[in-house]
Amino acid sequence: MKIRVAVITASTTGYAGKREDISGAKICEIVEEAGMEVTFKKILPDDRETLAKVMAVIADSQMADLILTTGGTGFSKTDCTPEATTDICVTALSRGRSGTAMRAASMKYTKRAMLSRAAAGIRKETLIINLPGSPKAVEESFAEILEEVIHGVEILTGQTAECARK
Ligand code: MTE
Repeated sequence: MKIRVAVITASTTGYAGKREDISGAKICEIVEEAGMEVTFKKILPDDRETLAKVMAVIADSQMADLILTTGGTGFSKTDCTPEATTDICVTALSRGRSGTAMRAASMKYTKRAMLSRAAAGIRKETLIINLPGSPKAVEESFAEILEEVIHGVEILTGQTAECARK
């Protein structure tokens, strides 16, 4: 069974139709290339409550096994994607782990990677991962965690119980 992915772009200007959503499209491209299926795609404003609500509905109604967000992870006053994510994630265990891995791996591309506060968490059977906002940042960050994210989702959704490394 294909992993179902929801892609959410957090961008108030994108939501207003004033900016093309290249990062969201980039995520869809990578996801599909990796054999997963995009079942939901939306641009939302940088609004903590809206982002949290939409992500919670997706997880609670099992519309996707994986939610990938892009944008809103930086230091701007309006950036709130990590907060919206942690607001609705019940499993604290995974919070921040993939963000830490992405930041560490991304440092070889740009030291500005340290400026992303990307978080991650689990709600019910859905894994939520924040990616930074630019298409380049999406590409660089996602490449570093893709394989592990797929394995994590397979465990979370019961598609595999096998964790042994060959
Ligand atoms: N990570 C990678 N791999 N490549 C990048 O170019 N840009 C950084 C960082 N992470 C970047 C990156 C920058 S400049 C910022 S401000 C933060 O992500 C936050 O971006 P966001 O607010 O668009 O999510």
